[in-house]
Amino acid sequence: MTAASATPALPTTRPAGCPFDPPGSYGELRETEPVSRVRCPAGMDAWLVTRYQDVRAVLADRALSSRGASSVHVNPNADLDEEVSPGSIIQLDGAEHSRLRKKVIAEFTVRRVEALRGYVQELVESHLDAMLAKPGQADLVADFALPIPSLVICELLGVPYADRSRFQRQSGLLVSTDATPEEGKQAYDELSALMAELFTDKRRNPRDDLFSRLISRGESDGDPLSTEELVVLGLSLLVAGHETTANMIALSALVLMEQPAQRDVVLARPERAVEELLRYLSVVQFGVLRYATSDVEVGGRAVKAGEWLVAALNSANRDEELFPGGDKLDFDRESPRTHVAFGFGAHQCVGQQLARVELQEALTRLFRRVPGLRLSVPRESLAFKHNTLVYGVRELPVAWG
Ligand code: HEM
Repeated sequence: MTAASATPALPTTRPAGCPFDPPGSYGELRETEPVSRVRCPAGMDAWLVTRYQDVRAVLADRALSSRGASSVHVNPNADLDEEVSPGSIIQLDGAEHSRLRKKVIAEFTVRRVEALRGYVQELVESHLDAMLAKPGQADLVADFALPIPSLVICELLGVPYADRSRFQRQSGLLVSTDATPEEGKQAYDELSALMAELFTDKRRNPRDDLFSRLISRGESDGDPLSTEELVVLGLSLLVAGHETTANMIALSALVLMEQPAQRDVVLARPERAVEELLRYLSVVQFGVLRYATSDVEVGGRAVKAGEWLVAALNSANRDEELFPGGDKLDFDRESPRTHVAFGFGAHQCVGQQLARVELQEALTRLFRRVPGLRLSVPRESLAFKHNTLVYGVRELPVAWG
């Protein structure tokens, strides 16, 4: 065996029978080798950072770049030299990133997101109506968890109602783990074309939606976003906000079906419960990628310029120093918002308030209206998404009544 092939692989195997726990080796790594060398699925070697404080330090360090990064470590077909599109907010650094982020973040304030709560409530209720109209069984992923975030993004983008089902079909294909690369590429191209059309129309006929406001603000402050930037930004919101939220809804529902005593807390204190579910499930399961633009030190290790780092969010969120008894779902934790499920630092999730509202509304309304919700298949038969950037369950057959 050569020295190179001895580099251990990025941990991906969860302990048998514990689908909600991160790979078992994380606990050991945090104790013995908190910054260790691993080989990523995309083939490159990286420093794996597993302790909470080190993960936060990595994500706050401006010498550690997101350029071209974020998730390419998980994709064996990734082209590491591909140029970053303007508008791809998650992959930009420095002034380019802050320019875009400043424009977008104004649209995700608590006030703006609270204004969307009524729409989210209507969506949740109408999907529950449709689900309950079925004869006693449904797939909670396809019938509930997936369509809600995608329709919320349609609302944000200002997609006309008549186009929403087409938009939804394509965005479903774009994030689907079962779609072939050709189908994924075709969905990307179709969505890009749909968005370009939409934004051209919005320049002429602005309405009261996020993208119309971004366009008109850009025109009035003399720093407009190009159609290409808007399209890539729209796609970034779609990709970042769709599967993450959908998988969180489905996995949270599964946890709560298995631990029915916890449902009362969700109904009584949804804000607190959702934070703990975000920590416990940490769906961005392979963490986020950065690379060093200069020599830095991380957790006592010397990291050289040009080396990659993986900030393991799911490991950080189980670090016993911060989260005693971290492998347990505990809605009474102090400071429930200290988790890093939404990342940290310059790229911390812009959609986090919206995700919280979607999760609160989806989970409380689901269990209030369907108190007898249960899995309709043995848990062992569920297929979990072990190899995708965002963890989740492929289908969630449920029954009620
Ligand atoms: C439970 C749901 C969600 C989770 C767990 C999640 C997680 C994350 C994480 C970990 C990052 C940081 C990536 C990095 O540092 O490289 C991130 C960034 C981002 N998220 Fe989310 N996200 C969620 C929902 C959403 C929603 C609903 C939206 C918007 C509709 C959204 C839009 C974004 C964007 C645009 C970024 C990039 C921000 C930047 O680079 O400045 N996310 N998200």
